[in-house]
Amino acid sequence: MDLLLDSKTAVVTGAGRGIGLATVKSLTAEGMRVVGAARTITPELKETGAVTVSADLSTAEGVRTVIDTAITELGGIDLLVNNVGGGDLTLQGFLEIEDEQWLSLFNLNLLSTVRASRAALPSLIERHGAIVNISTLSARLPGTAPVAYASAKAALTALGKALADQFGPQGVRVNTISPGFVNSSIYDSPENFGGQIASAFGMDIPTFLAQAPATLGLTTGRFVEPAEIASLVAYLASGAAGSISGVDYIVDGGQFKAV
Ligand SMILES: NC(=O)c1ccc[n+]([C@@H]2O[C@H](COP(=O)([O-])OP(=O)(O)OC[C@H]3O[C@@H](n4cnc5c(N)ncnc54)[C@H](OP(=O)(O)O)[C@@H]3O)[C@@H](O)[C@H]2O)c1
Repeated sequence: MDLLLDSKTAVVTGAGRGIGLATVKSLTAEGMRVVGAARTITPELKETGAVTVSADLSTAEGVRTVIDTAITELGGIDLLVNNVGGGDLTLQGFLEIEDEQWLSLFNLNLLSTVRASRAALPSLIERHGAIVNISTLSARLPGTAPVAYASAKAALTALGKALADQFGPQGVRVNTISPGFVNSSIYDSPENFGGQIASAFGMDIPTFLAQAPATLGLTTGRFVEPAEIASLVAYLASGAAGSISGVDYIVDGGQFKAV
């Protein structure tokens, strides 16, 4: 299917690896001109041909730099993909988490999207564009994830619904994708959060990756690939999804058993 995205423009946050990088690849393959932002500009991101911006997206200044660059370099924004998230995640209990950590996780997982959307919306309204926010299945299963992360992501999912309602009449569609377990760089090292999850299950990462699909009820028998999230982003950006707004798509290999 031709998504007719050729020469449209996009901003992707958290674009250096994982879901963000896959999204940049997917959008550039559709002919879009993309600004990709992360603190580290990886060789893989450079190779996509995207305009790259190195910025800390947990800060207001970092987000402003990215959106300003996109307006200058691309002439406007047709699609904003608020992908950046995660952060300093640990499996600490609620009573051990200080305000500083709550604020840090909310800055990265929620306020980055608030700030980027606010800055991009004038252009998105002018061009009848779209926003796609990357939340998490943990927003619906907060007991299974670090509490501050799940809370910030639940707020992000709610924000998507509210923005869809507020800006739909001005031609902007806003949707959310909530991935389950994704085969991304968080499983690259025991020090990463994926390593902590594996350790909590009493396993090393390779054993966890092999056993988790069955243990966690992923009916597809495997983790989600970043490219599978990315292709949904491209579809949601396109006119083919012209009647889709305010939806939260769970992409989790069948893990979530509720309706
Ligand atoms: N992986 C999963 O299983 C999973 C599941 C559900 C939801 N998600 C969500 O999907 C999104 C992407 O996750 P992922 O697994 O693809 O992550 P990832 O592989 O860790 O990649 C994260 C990207 O964001 C960048 N980034 C992180 N902190 C940043 C900051 N402060 N400022 C600018 N860039 C920053 C990273 O580069 P630098 O560190 O160099 O800046 C990197 O490019 C996140 O919102 C995450 O919550 C992931």
